[in-house]
Amino acid sequence: MMFISFVLAYLIGSVSFSYLITKKIKKVDIRKEGSGNAGATNTLRVLGVGPAIGVLILDVLKGVVAILIAQALHLDLWAIALSGLCAILGHNFPVFFGFKGGKGVATTIGVFIMLLPIPFVIAGVIGLILIAITRYVSLGSIILIILTPTLSLIIGNYSNSITAIGFLIVVLAIWQHRMNIVRLFHGEENKLGQKKEA
Ligand code: G3P
Repeated sequence: MMFISFVLAYLIGSVSFSYLITKKIKKVDIRKEGSGNAGATNTLRVLGVGPAIGVLILDVLKGVVAILIAQALHLDLWAIALSGLCAILGHNFPVFFGFKGGKGVATTIGVFIMLLPIPFVIAGVIGLILIAITRYVSLGSIILIILTPTLSLIIGNYSNSITAIGFLIVVLAIWQHRMNIVRLFHGEENKLGQKKEA
């Protein structure tokens, strides 16, 4: 049952909505446009607000559905959380699209909403404020992802296995954002509403 959940989660995560929607509307590969990332932020650059919100919601839902399936299969908490990680891995390294996907932020949000709701809401507000002030989506995303399991640890109300897998998700997110982090340190990161490409 556990492996069925992992594989299903990975396959669901592998459905790259930013790729599919950009291909459909603009006939281009999103991975060759803007920052080259297959995600909601880059969809905003390439297609605009409406499609970006659509991609964001669909990518969040991938994380939510992966967790719901794992819960329906009555898996242990650690296996439910690992299913969430598998959905994020699918989003980042999609089997249907040559293993070149996104950075996993939206799908991580879906997983965190389901597993660590209170820490996520607090971290989400802080991440959104950071994005509003700095206009760096990557900075707000990284902080949001780091803060969620950190707050879970501080609050202490959640299972250790979920918090531990939350930190694995943090490591993955930092790795996926490594080029954004370099650009942030050099003051060269793309800002929201700015047309410049990475
Ligand atoms: O959604 C990923 C975000 O944190 C950064 O995206 O396209 O600016 O690299 P991007």
